[in-house]
Amino acid sequence: MTTITLVQGDITRQSVDAVVNAANSSLLGGGGVDGAVHRRGGPEILADCRRLRASHYGKGLPTGQAVATTAGELDARWVIHTVGPVYSATEDRSNLLASCYRESLRVADELGARTVAFPAVSAGIYGWPMDDAARIAVETVRAARTAVAEVRFVLYDERAYAAFAARVG
Ligand code: AR6
Repeated sequence: MTTITLVQGDITRQSVDAVVNAANSSLLGGGGVDGAVHRRGGPEILADCRRLRASHYGKGLPTGQAVATTAGELDARWVIHTVGPVYSATEDRSNLLASCYRESLRVADELGARTVAFPAVSAGIYGWPMDDAARIAVETVRAARTAVAEVRFVLYDERAYAAFAARVG
């Protein structure tokens, strides 16, 4: 049984086994959560990402997939990097967004992570409307078969928190 909890705050300051990063397929950093994770986690994370690119993902991590690295100096053991879809008003990419949550939890299970913090993947720079991003996130985690005991959604601002709270109830 997975418990869903909600926190308003900075995902890089969570004490959990694994923090999920809203990455891009280069795995080499960016803004938003990705920038914060690399800034606070330090250079070990980027070094691990570069190794992964060289060994497994020459063309980058595909959208909807997830992969783990060290968490460097974060107060977590692992960072699970996932690549959300860019929002499109003309094409339904919900399956790819749901896949980010499913695949991140699959990786978490492989690692043995029991507590996992997620941001609102795709709902920042990638433009996904927050209410819909929250719906997909919560529905997908609820439907997932996982040994993760706690999924903690870490929402940056009040609006995001309210959108998730409306779904979790
Ligand atoms: N803690 C928790 N949530 C945060 C934090 C934080 N420290 N910082 C931002 N958010 P985003 P995306 C919120 O843009 O939409 C990067 O350049 C933010 O307000 O981080 O998947 C990557 O490299 C929003 O609600 O991720 C990619 O190129 C949510 O987290 C691209 O952005 C997600 O916003 C990915 O864009």
